[in-house]
Amino acid sequence: MSRKITIKALKFNPNSKISKPHFAQYELEETAGMTLFIALTMIREKFDADLSFDFVCRAGICGSCGMMVNGVPKLACRTLTKDYPDGVIQLMPMPAFKLIKDLSVDTGNWMNEMSKRVESWIHSKEKTDISKIEKRIEPEVAQETFELDRCIECGICVAACGTKLMRPNFVGAVGLNRVARFRIDPLDERTDEDFYELIGDDDGVFGCMSLLACEDNCPKHLPLQSKIAYMRRKLVALR
Ligand code: SF4
Ligand code: FES
Repeated sequence: MSRKITIKALKFNPNSKISKPHFAQYELEETAGMTLFIALTMIREKFDADLSFDFVCRAGICGSCGMMVNGVPKLACRTLTKDYPDGVIQLMPMPAFKLIKDLSVDTGNWMNEMSKRVESWIHSKEKTDISKIEKRIEPEVAQETFELDRCIECGICVAACGTKLMRPNFVGAVGLNRVARFRIDPLDERTDEDFYELIGDDDGVFGCMSLLACEDNCPKHLPLQSKIAYMRRKLVALR
């Protein structure tokens, strides 16, 4: 049996002098298998063409549809309205990122800066010769790096993070996960001293208060806490 649901979405345009933050309320008929992405698209088509939110893939792959759903960061395209029994769902933009408008935030530039900060690429003095067969890596090591590469840069771990609220420059679980990925990769020639230079402070691996919200909310179920602990163990051994 279908039911009516209520979506309350925060609306605010920081680039407009007359815009004030407020909740807009929309009532709609729930359909079978309705996700928040479907609900928002319906709202935009039927009630409010001005409502801004992001999506690309609708399949939990692109990482662009993160938002706060009743106070918890989630991917809108992977969140079912039926999971909210009272039928009232409040949507807000994710904190920690620059607000573009309404539910849309700029995770792209944040991720780009984070990637540059942790030098998120293989560091090797060897010249790549593409005519040669790639260097062999143990399958279990390759598997471990692939596992961490599944991050979709959605920003949910950052939005969920209490440390990030206290330390605005905290690199976040996504950044620490990225460093761990290269620490594990035998093709990266960086030493632990090099990694220490990047994340060996309270804005890096020593700032994490192990509140676990990153791992609890990561839609890709990445082992964020164990990788943060792994990096902390490696770097604390240097001092
Ligand atoms: S680690 Fe998880 S929550 Fe964080 S950005 Fe990557 S996929 Fe999203
Ligand atoms: S639209 Fe791509 S992850 Fe949700």
